[in-house]
Amino acid sequence: MKFKQASLFDNYQNNKIISPPIRYTGSKFRAAKFILPFLSKINYDEYREPFLGCGAIFFRTHLSKISWLNDLDNDLITTFKVIANKRTRVRLIKRVKNIVPSKSLFDEIKYKKYTKQEDVAYRYFLINRMAYGGIMNKPNWGFHEYKSVQPKKWPDLIQNSGIKLENATKITSIDFEKVISAKKTGKIVMMFIDPPYFNADQKRAYSNSFTLKDHERLLKILKKTTYNFCLTYDNCPEIKKKYSWAKIHEVEWMYHTANSNKTSRKIGKELIITNY
Ligand SMILES: C[S@@+](CC[C@H](N)C(=O)[O-])C[C@H]1O[C@@H](n2cnc3c(N)ncnc32)[C@H](O)[C@@H]1O
Repeated sequence: MKFKQASLFDNYQNNKIISPPIRYTGSKFRAAKFILPFLSKINYDEYREPFLGCGAIFFRTHLSKISWLNDLDNDLITTFKVIANKRTRVRLIKRVKNIVPSKSLFDEIKYKKYTKQEDVAYRYFLINRMAYGGIMNKPNWGFHEYKSVQPKKWPDLIQNSGIKLENATKITSIDFEKVISAKKTGKIVMMFIDPPYFNADQKRAYSNSFTLKDHERLLKILKKTTYNFCLTYDNCPEIKKKYSWAKIHEVEWMYHTANSNKTSRKIGKELIITNY
């Protein structure tokens, strides 16, 4: 597979804190301050994120020479691809910037199946911004007149994240194993790995469910890898036991969960697991 290299990226933009363009269940936005010090311990030139979600960590890291972003959720990745491309990004901004959020628009496009990539991104972005908690799986209307990020701010969210995506990435929607096991292009690889939680009920959170078998597959491949990894999980005895061969750090941060009809914010005890 071919990689784009980040050579033209302007330093200012590179070091700027960029917000993800979308909201996401399980986003590590608030946990970034705990995770970033672990990533910066290694001087890597190739970055891989097999479970991208909204990319909360990617948008906070310095732009590596090579970066590979991946998530099995196809609509999510299509949206990122549309935002990464300058021409389609401009068109997306034009389409969403004068939108007046309404329940009728939300209901009209909620379950619409688009085939054109730009339409998929248009729907994904709008539903994400209007849905309760940004939950995309069976979304509920939840746009708030004052509390929600207002449409006048949407173009900047798309533009700023798009500039980083455009300059740095290969973006795919494949199973995590292929991303972790692929041959390296750079000298030193760093992987930030954030799979769905082991114990928390995430049935409603993502469009693809992650089974016990998937957790075992991840464990097996991480045991074998020669690349650096920084893995995050919910703090539970099963994971501590499975990863007792690696370095386990216990931390606490604020996080979102999606249960039944609502998301809630909690303080979580979580694990950061590294092999370095
Ligand atoms: C905890 S979330 C990642 C959150 C992300 N770190 C963030 O800050 O937004 C886990 C992600 O894994 C993805 N996923 C589930 N099964 C997968 C698989 N087999 N391969 C790749 N991605 C998968 C889900 O679609 C979801 O976006």
